[in-house]
Amino acid sequence: MDLPNLPSAAFIAPDGKNHQAVASFVQKVVDLLLMEMGQASRRSPLPALNHLPAHQIPNQGINEVELLTQLKNIIQQSMNAAHPGYIGHMDSIPSTASMLGDLVAGALNNNMLSVEMSPILSRLEPLLLKEIAAMFGLPETAGGVLVSGGSLGNLQAIAVARNSHFPILAKGLAGLEKPPVFFTSAAAHTSFKKAAMVLGLGSDAAIGITTDQQGKLDCGALEVAIAQAQQSGQAPFAIVATAGTTVTGNIDPIEDMADIAQEHNLWFHVDASYGGALAFSPQHQHLLKGIDQADSITFNPQKWLYVTKTCAMTLFRDAGSWQSNFRIGAPYMGEEDDAINLGEVSLQGTRHGDVLKLWMTLQHLGKAGCAEIIEQNFAITQAFVQAVRDRPFLRLATSPEMNIVCFRGEPEHLPSAKWDDWNQQLRKHLLTHHQTFLSLPKHQGQRWLKAVLLNPFTQIKDIEQLFYGLDQFSLPRQ
Ligand SMILES: Cc1ncc(COP(=O)(O)O)c(C=O)c1O
Repeated sequence: MDLPNLPSAAFIAPDGKNHQAVASFVQKVVDLLLMEMGQASRRSPLPALNHLPAHQIPNQGINEVELLTQLKNIIQQSMNAAHPGYIGHMDSIPSTASMLGDLVAGALNNNMLSVEMSPILSRLEPLLLKEIAAMFGLPETAGGVLVSGGSLGNLQAIAVARNSHFPILAKGLAGLEKPPVFFTSAAAHTSFKKAAMVLGLGSDAAIGITTDQQGKLDCGALEVAIAQAQQSGQAPFAIVATAGTTVTGNIDPIEDMADIAQEHNLWFHVDASYGGALAFSPQHQHLLKGIDQADSITFNPQKWLYVTKTCAMTLFRDAGSWQSNFRIGAPYMGEEDDAINLGEVSLQGTRHGDVLKLWMTLQHLGKAGCAEIIEQNFAITQAFVQAVRDRPFLRLATSPEMNIVCFRGEPEHLPSAKWDDWNQQLRKHLLTHHQTFLSLPKHQGQRWLKAVLLNPFTQIKDIEQLFYGLDQFSLPRQ
């Protein structure tokens, strides 16, 4: 390659001629990354922004030293999920294997659109997903596809549910006599409203059913809502259970909901975007009881399975019916007898080879490694919940079922109208002075604090530090 404006490491030369230049560039970036990630606990869990990189695109490429300086700046100002005190959201420190899998997938730059563009990865993905489907108890007929996040996973599932219930794949909704609706809990993720909107049903078609004190869908209310929808001329087609709600981490009564779906001949989807990881824990997988009855499942290894973003999947009980109810052929693509062009049966066309980082993580950690982390998360959560219960001025939103704790302070010395503000100030105090980042979700009209205890480096001492800071803050001011 003789292009004088390009740096010598611009591409990896396929004849290895610039090996040294590329190796030196890669090494410098990796050294910087390891240095910075190895000091992540010294930075804030949510560093302040103080310098945005120069945004003009240079005429000539800048040199590596300058590039690395700017990169360091970006790393140091990024959300710091590796910090043991970063416990605000479902963002995990990534497994080393998934980081490397991402790097390798990037270097190979295969395209999951079709088999000929990703011959091994397009075969590996269905194999791996079939095995994961079996871990959820789905039968041999099951299959699935990776998607870019849980929202797309849910959209894909609801699209297939709708198409399998109504013959509208080609002609659309216009020919339907009754408007299709489906049911989720009121605490379900907003992606279901979004899916209903995108699918032309309107966001109101995702009907939110009230939850009980534990944040779980109320099955009695679901039965009533199904009857009401039928009486008012709507056409119910699916029920969605959530295994790990976004704010409180609770699990809907999956088994009972599966029975209701069967009784009314409705599609049964389980959004296990977060809680799906429980399938990897022999000690806690019973919490997903009933998930084996699902017609489809969303699961995000990017959350509690430590795989770099994005990595999510939609699994189907009957892969044949998924494909026949969704497939739009791509005649410009080659066909193979033993494998399907995944771009024809998924929402996305061109797609990153995310399967590699999932596969590498599972190879590297094994089922036992995943189980060990999850079980440790439960132990830390227990200590956290006890610390909340020990303080009468704190209240839990629900009784935590996994490693998500949603709570708030309701200090008696303040009028209740000031409690939202108090929690907001407490959160700020913990971030500024005690290296702890909690999130501040709105739940039932009030501000709450949320902790997601999935970082394997978060220890009891971090929890003690948080509650020490909380106690300091809660002392009545003079
Ligand atoms: C239960 C649940 N489902 C779906 C999603 C959407 O996932 P994503 O943000 O990857 O689209 C989330 C996100 O937090 C979630 O908590």
